[in-house]
Amino acid sequence: MSREPENHGARMSFADTMSYTDYLGLDGILDAQRPLSDAHDEMLFIIQHQTSELWMKLAQHELNAARDAIGADNLPRAFKTLARVARIFEQLNSAWDVLRTMTPADYTQFRESLGQSSGFQSHQYRLIEFTLGNRNRSMLKPHTHRPDLLATLEAELARPSLYDVALKYVSDQGIDVPKAVLSRELSARHTPDEGVTAAWQVIYEDTSRYWALYDLAEKLVDIEDYFRRWRFNHVTTVERVIGLKRGTGGTGACPICARCWRSSSFPSYGRSAPGFDVVCLRRGYLTQKEGSVGQKSFEGLDTVGLMRGFVPTQAGYPWKAHGDT
Ligand code: HEM
Repeated sequence: MSREPENHGARMSFADTMSYTDYLGLDGILDAQRPLSDAHDEMLFIIQHQTSELWMKLAQHELNAARDAIGADNLPRAFKTLARVARIFEQLNSAWDVLRTMTPADYTQFRESLGQSSGFQSHQYRLIEFTLGNRNRSMLKPHTHRPDLLATLEAELARPSLYDVALKYVSDQGIDVPKAVLSRELSARHTPDEGVTAAWQVIYEDTSRYWALYDLAEKLVDIEDYFRRWRFNHVTTVERVIGLKRGTGGTGACPICARCWRSSSFPSYGRSAPGFDVVCLRRGYLTQKEGSVGQKSFEGLDTVGLMRGFVPTQAGYPWKAHGDT
């Protein structure tokens, strides 16, 4: 039997038809890696960022679909899509292991080439944050020199976020969500709200009755969880590669990355939440049921620490070690 692919039906000539390279636009993609130094590791650094941006593009595409599906009362579709977003973040999380093979000495060889560019200026990252519900108009500033990107971000701020749409859905199912939250100024920063927490509490206390809403909340928790892991991987990589040096974007790198890590995509999830966020509510409810810790003891604790059981055991974490309170 011949081992030639053409003898097995494979097309071998693409002079007059679309090829793999054509369809995927590979010429443009593979021509986009242009190191500015001779340092070997700059290629790794560029490809790591570019592939992250590609996965972010897909994540945004899926988040938009999930948001539309929730708005159209199609939760099964939204769940499938949100599960995919969580997988994308998992993919992004695994990618850090490749970058971590780069040492501070390797990075130092091309750091100057980056100039003032930094992931902090990633408009896709910001778009994802805005879409999820973590909105902050100040983050538009780094994009004022690019009216096209600014317009995309502004347009997102004018739309209800995924979390806004989820809360509207909860309200449509007959659960009380404060009117002020449902009609909030969309571009404004979300603030934790006890009424919203109470709405989630209703769901978590009768999961069989509100199974679909419970599933929705858990899908949001999933995304939050993966996103936080991404931030965590980012801060530990930054610490490993540049230590206490200033970031190319101008920040005091580790503390700001740690702060970003502690931030949350969904309003009542954050560390600053005065009441119980969904995650705490869930954990607190479980532990209360097990008779170990009452829900009240979760107030004032670091929700990230709660979500990541290992965090409190790691004394001297970057932000503490670097005097960031
Ligand atoms: C050696 C690798 C890396 C280092 C040393 C690093 C360093 C930093 C630093 C110091 C900041 C804070 C802003 C600044 O002053 O620059 C930052 C922010 C950021 N970086 Fe990285 N980074 C690395 C890899 C990556 C990769 C692979 C991505 C993927 C796209 C990324 C995406 C981001 C994003 C999105 C922010 C803004 C985070 C936020 O505002 O919440 N970084 N990075």
